[in-house]
Amino acid sequence: MANAAIHCAGAPLLAKALAMSKLNELMARGTELLGSDYAILCGAMSWVSERHLVSAISNAGGFGVIACGAMTPELLDAEIAATRTLTKRGFGVNLITMHPQLFDLIAVCTSHGVGHVVLAGGLPPKGSLEAIKASGAKVICFTPTLALGKKLVRSGVDALVIEGMEAGGHIGPVSTSVLAQEILPELAGEVPIFVAGGIGRGEAIAGYLEMGASGVQLGTRFVCATESIAHPAFKKAFIRASARDAIASVQIDPRLPVIPVRALKNAGTEAFTAKQREVANLLDAGTVDMPAAQLEIEHYWAGALRRAVIDGDVENGSLMAGQSVGMVTGEESVAEIIASLARQAEAALQTRG
Ligand SMILES: Cc1cc2nc3c(=O)[nH]c(=O)nc-3n(C[C@H](O)[C@H](O)[C@H](O)COP(=O)(O)O)c2cc1C
Repeated sequence: MANAAIHCAGAPLLAKALAMSKLNELMARGTELLGSDYAILCGAMSWVSERHLVSAISNAGGFGVIACGAMTPELLDAEIAATRTLTKRGFGVNLITMHPQLFDLIAVCTSHGVGHVVLAGGLPPKGSLEAIKASGAKVICFTPTLALGKKLVRSGVDALVIEGMEAGGHIGPVSTSVLAQEILPELAGEVPIFVAGGIGRGEAIAGYLEMGASGVQLGTRFVCATESIAHPAFKKAFIRASARDAIASVQIDPRLPVIPVRALKNAGTEAFTAKQREVANLLDAGTVDMPAAQLEIEHYWAGALRRAVIDGDVENGSLMAGQSVGMVTGEESVAEIIASLARQAEAALQTRG
């Protein structure tokens, strides 16, 4: 009788322990690849993912990634060195494939012995995968389709990120849930795959892990971390916003290409629509030629993310944010965010038995 009572009292604890070990098991390939406690990457966010946030993420057991963005090799060199002073744990560097000095940036990563390089923004140029792998670093690439994913696996990438259109920043046209269903069953057996876009809670993490993902990548959820240097006004805009405020930019004229970006709507997004209309009218009137018109659209948002993140201009700057912004309800430390994601994932796994 006494034993039965002890047994019953211990049952919830046992179930919780099993759920924790299940989470570890599901994340094992991801944590092994990253060398972190949780297979939770904080996706690189230009201006936001600098030394403070990156080190805080890695110190809390996740995996931080420096956003190189348009940095020069000298600036990247300084950022990596400064991040190293703040964490003993591993972190990655995200490089944009069309950066004119991509190979110099890879050399900077090599000189610091960076363990993981994430290539974003398109197909890796010839020789770039080889240059990264020659340094001993792991290379992680984004794939927007199954076909490209297969090609990248054949080229020797160590892991893939699949990112749906719910994400903040530059996006593709397909949702996270569809990409996960198309790509995980085919490629999860080949390389670890991290799912990104629209993840705000641990239940979703558990779901993607159960579908075969080795981990996840979140961006929006970490913007308002206490350790994030984003301007208070930028954080306030996130905390106030709901999912439907994070909208994808719209192209209004087929002659003037717009790369879709998901961001919170503000005066800047409205002015962008007006600008496209104005430039299209000038084209019709023959006042500007096509290259000049396209350049004007392309350059419209230049410097706009910095204006919002660093200067706090939330009216005219770019408030890149994903649809999970509605689940950002306050400022919390990175450790609290990661702990609650893990708790939610474990609870979901426990409920599902
Ligand atoms: C403010 C902001 C800036 C971003 N900048 C970059 C970037 O410079 N490079 C990149 O590869 N992804 C960038 N992203 C995408 C994130 O790395 C991450 O993949 C994405 O936020 C995940 O989706 P989520 O926002 O739904 O969590 C950015 C996202 C946000 C919200």
